[in-house]
Amino acid sequence: MNVRLRIDNREVEVPEGATLLEAARALGIAIPTLCHAEGLPPSTSCMVCVVKVKGRDALVPSCAVRAEDGMEVESETEEVAAARKAAVELLLSDHVGDCVAPCHALCPARMEIPRMLRQIAAGAYADAIATVKRDIALPATLGRICPAPCEKGCRRAARDAAVSICLLKRFVADVDLESSAPYRPACAPPSGKKVAIAGAGPAGLAAAYHLLQAGHACTLFDALGEPGGMLRRKIEPGRLPPAVLDAEIARVTELGAQFVPGTRAGADVPLAELRGRFDAVLIAAGELPAEAFEALGLPFGPRGILADKKTFATPESGVFAAGGVLRPLRMAVRAVADGKEAARSIDRFLTGRYSMAHDERFSTHIGKLREGEIDAFMTGASPAPRVVPAGDGMTPEEAAADAARCLRCDCRKQHDCALRHLADACGARAHRYKIERRAFAQLRRPGVIYEPGKCILCGICIAIAEEAREPLGLTFVGRGFNVRVGVPLNAGLAEALTKVADRCVRACPTAALAYDAD
Ligand code: SF4
Ligand code: SF4
Ligand code: SF4
Ligand code: FES
Repeated sequence: MNVRLRIDNREVEVPEGATLLEAARALGIAIPTLCHAEGLPPSTSCMVCVVKVKGRDALVPSCAVRAEDGMEVESETEEVAAARKAAVELLLSDHVGDCVAPCHALCPARMEIPRMLRQIAAGAYADAIATVKRDIALPATLGRICPAPCEKGCRRAARDAAVSICLLKRFVADVDLESSAPYRPACAPPSGKKVAIAGAGPAGLAAAYHLLQAGHACTLFDALGEPGGMLRRKIEPGRLPPAVLDAEIARVTELGAQFVPGTRAGADVPLAELRGRFDAVLIAAGELPAEAFEALGLPFGPRGILADKKTFATPESGVFAAGGVLRPLRMAVRAVADGKEAARSIDRFLTGRYSMAHDERFSTHIGKLREGEIDAFMTGASPAPRVVPAGDGMTPEEAAADAARCLRCDCRKQHDCALRHLADACGARAHRYKIERRAFAQLRRPGVIYEPGKCILCGICIAIAEEAREPLGLTFVGRGFNVRVGVPLNAGLAEALTKVADRCVRACPTAALAYDAD
């Protein structure tokens, strides 16, 4: 027998016994879930699937409540959205994890440092340079001059000294530049759009590198006769050999960038002309005197051009600004990071997907470690001290040794964690509720790692192990706020999950259960 009900004013008919979640899905209405798993009994522990049923005071979990004839259900009200967000924030209140590693969070260009380190440790240099160049256009250059803000937050320093992140980036970039076929990113087919970039310094070059990959033609205008900007003018050749800079710039121009020397936007070519000839203009000319800003005709303040901090858009439609023209910069990496972000913003503008929203992803952070927690992080990392290179730059052996010191602070499911996706989607804040976090711990079984601090107590793994008749399986242990998933009789994870470890890892909505190698 079927029942008929309405969800969000749309009628649906489902078999008797179906849940509201199933009825919503039959209509194509997406309701988030965390503790629900197909074929397993509902545990109703997360409450992110709540909906409003007309006539009932409290919201109900759609994964557990059965559809009834004549029901009227709402899944998208403000009350529902607020309740879902609060449920996610409660789950995060005592969560112990770093979605992205501290070093990654501190890198202005948001380079995925731990991934690069694992690839270098494994000798996978082609993969490592691809990881680096996804975010950093000029790594061999920055590897010589960057003050390495990422290393200031490296967790390994709590035991002895930070991993040599900057030197390792330089190592892999040098290996690539010296190879017979240096890394060349794939470029989208030509979009037919043209971008003028005023300034061929770190911000302009980085912007061109990313815009060219998106298929947009780029013309770089610069006052000087050669591209490089402050990298060529302000850094002594002893620190940054011109040959390295030239080789790295060639990796940008080979993607198709045109260079127009001896031409200053504003003074030599009016902004209005550039706007007429190109689909978008990026001003990336570094720190400029007030007269130069006046010549451009863009609004400016004491520090530089006034532009949106997140989109880099100036008040003039289609005109963007990045790098030192916005404010004095102490680090070239910030200019490179600006260039990348401005390129993304310009790409959105050109393709009609322009959004003023900044799309940094949700991230939760452990923060300061408690006494003894560094020991758990050291499991799996090389105990050797920081490598002091014998020469200028690292040898492959030195690079492998230092990369192996990384504690692997980034989350193993940072790209596919359901809790993180949902936190992003509902705009949750990680520390809305001030509850003392759990202790950091890791349990391992060959290939699988269990981090109780990331467990949201959904019970899915316990149910899977029970259904598969694992001899020991998993169970909830402890009381009150100290409940966690454990193995009966204090046995290890390997004895608990002899048959269904894979299924549990795949079904776990967070990285509480994850593959060690991910
Ligand atoms: S389990 Fe999810 S929310 Fe927690 S640290 Fe990992 S990615 Fe972030
Ligand atoms: S130990 Fe590794 S992952 Fe952790 S902060 Fe340092 S470099 Fe980053
Ligand atoms: S470890 Fe088990 S109970 Fe904890 S979040 Fe993962 S599947 Fe759920
Ligand atoms: S309570 Fe329904 S998915 Fe968790």
